[in-house]
Amino acid sequence: MPFFFVRQDITKMHVDAIVNAANGTLLGGGGVDGAIHRAAGPRLVQECATLGGCRTGEAKRTLAYDLPCKYVIHTVGPVWYGGSHDEARLLSDCYRNSLRIAADSGCESVAFPLISSGVYGYPKDQAIRVAVETIRAFLQKHDLTVYLVLYDSMAIRTQGERFGELRRMLDNLERVGRPEQTAPSAPGRKFGFAKPARARGAEKARPIRQEAQQDDAEAQVFAADACEAPLPCAASEASLEDLLGQLDESFAQMLFRLIDERGMTDAECYKKANIDRKLFSKIRGNVHYRPSKMTALAFAIALELSLDETRELLGKAGYALSHSYKADLIVEYFIGRGVYDVMEINEALFAFDQALLGA
Ligand code: APR
Repeated sequence: MPFFFVRQDITKMHVDAIVNAANGTLLGGGGVDGAIHRAAGPRLVQECATLGGCRTGEAKRTLAYDLPCKYVIHTVGPVWYGGSHDEARLLSDCYRNSLRIAADSGCESVAFPLISSGVYGYPKDQAIRVAVETIRAFLQKHDLTVYLVLYDSMAIRTQGERFGELRRMLDNLERVGRPEQTAPSAPGRKFGFAKPARARGAEKARPIRQEAQQDDAEAQVFAADACEAPLPCAASEASLEDLLGQLDESFAQMLFRLIDERGMTDAECYKKANIDRKLFSKIRGNVHYRPSKMTALAFAIALELSLDETRELLGKAGYALSHSYKADLIVEYFIGRGVYDVMEINEALFAFDQALLGA
């Protein structure tokens, strides 16, 4: 299931569970621990006091009380002593044990802070690597939507530093005056936010749908442009009924043909594309389904399409790759280098405040 980076205060996330970077007493502290206890109210520490503490790398669950989620999963990250005291394994245990509790609790969505990267001094770039690798491995076998919350500018800047060459390319393009446009994002999605599905059965308001509406509008514009060109004379004499009988292969038909040609299973494809199983089922069930542009691009990456094949698949959904959109340039940059790792591309998209691949 999908895994996203978000820039948000974790106490405001509408997910089924949030994870707290606690200390061994579980009785509160500073940083995200303090923020969670303040937002949850006094009943949280009262329940924590009954748990008998928590060892580094382990995790324990409580209710969330005044927070907009069902549970808080408290875990204790390792203090950084330079990297030779088993810190990476202990930090990975924090994510894995918290995910296990979330899955066992029937959660569909969970949000993590960047554990140990604050008071405990874990270098942020290494903390992000451990988090991404552990979460991705868990999601190979479990259906959960996971958000990694990068809260402070240092964590976000650390993200950005990994993409120096890409930043220089984008800066050059801006200097040569290519109009910088970011795909108009859905309201409230200022920084590539993947606003999480709401917990507690509230309408699963996911901005992807808003983005899809935006993309649909783009698609209509794109499709309208295509229709302005005069139809070939044979077609202009054919009846509308004949024309409609000559529809090209749809997006879904091309997608499933490519999955079969590559010998992939559906699950392999949608997991590699960072796509929610339920969305994939929707596409499977509607041959004329039109995905959002970032969803279509996510499948192009999962199928490891060339640039031309990517353009063809996008075209089936009414979109085009454009050098006027930073997100398109970033995806094109990675395809051009044969990098088909959705999470790596999402880290770059997130670092440049763009909408993310997947849904
Ligand atoms: N939402 C999301 N992330 C946050 C928030 C917030 N409201 N507040 C802080 N963070 C981020 C920090 O920017 C950092 O990247 O959480 C990450 C973890 O930092 P800490 O909260 O300092 O946690 P950690 O480094 O694991 O240290 C744990 O600090 O607060 C005490 O009681 C806690 O003793 C424990 C220690």
